[in-house]
Amino acid sequence: MVSTSSTSSLDRAETGAGLTTGGSAFIEQAQESGRYFIHQPYHLYSEANHAAWRQLYAGMEERWARHANAPFLRGLDALRLDPCHVPRLEDVNKFLRPLTGFQAVAVSGFLPAFVFFDCLSRREFPTTITMRDAAEAFAPWPDIFHDVTGHVPMHTDPAFADVLVRFGRCAHTAAEMVSGIADADEQARRLTSIIRAMARFFWFTIETGLMRSPEGLKVYGSALLSSRAEMDRAVNPALVQQSPLQLEWVIHQGFLPNFFQPLLFVVDSFDHLFGLVGELEDWMRRGKLDDVAPGEPSISASDVQSFLQGAGTR
Ligand SMILES: [Fe+2]
Repeated sequence: MVSTSSTSSLDRAETGAGLTTGGSAFIEQAQESGRYFIHQPYHLYSEANHAAWRQLYAGMEERWARHANAPFLRGLDALRLDPCHVPRLEDVNKFLRPLTGFQAVAVSGFLPAFVFFDCLSRREFPTTITMRDAAEAFAPWPDIFHDVTGHVPMHTDPAFADVLVRFGRCAHTAAEMVSGIADADEQARRLTSIIRAMARFFWFTIETGLMRSPEGLKVYGSALLSSRAEMDRAVNPALVQQSPLQLEWVIHQGFLPNFFQPLLFVVDSFDHLFGLVGELEDWMRRGKLDDVAPGEPSISASDVQSFLQGAGTR
């Protein structure tokens, strides 16, 4: 027997306006019930959702060809994304999983920080399934276009995938390090600083990173790879500052994700980046992340709590 409440929930999901960011009853229901991990109800995508995907994809293709790093372009080919339709994650995973073991898992929105990083350590990428409202060149929040065209092609590259896994494991190191601190206030203070440092590192590498190549600077950061306007700016040194990555700068440098980025950091290779994650973890163990500069991003109580709950789950 179907209860009255579940019937009404189903009706709400079925009558929502596609799977549009900020306007999906299906997502609202998942968030209201505290479900982070969901399925992708593909039939709910509207023609407007597919049209937005189509328009955004068309706007990126030539920019990817000119400015994206080579592993991204190889990944794009390997995933065989349909330029005209929002992808099914199960199709994406069919091509992705054999290459690096990574898979895209559907989520209802932002996850607490530890939960997100822990997914990376297990080669799972939390993937937003909604599509932005219209074909905006610049979307302030993640959507499936950002996650699948910006992030997932990078996950086909074994060296990059190893970077993400190592970064995810840093979250376990942090959780275990602070678990022995008896003073709850000091524990939360130190954890907040470490999470802020990790978030800054993630932002200035995985989301907005540039890499040297024989053909000049190439983009590997996913926030740039999924935005026409950000791609155009990222490769123009007259509009953005491009600096070799210095760990002590990155961990103290605030950022705002929903504005055009004024400052980008450059690495030499994914091996270089892998080494930098190792250095970050070493600094964490030595207490060098315990007092990073205050400021953005803000770290929520649920982010801190997620690390406290994650201790010992490695
Ligand atoms: Fe992202």
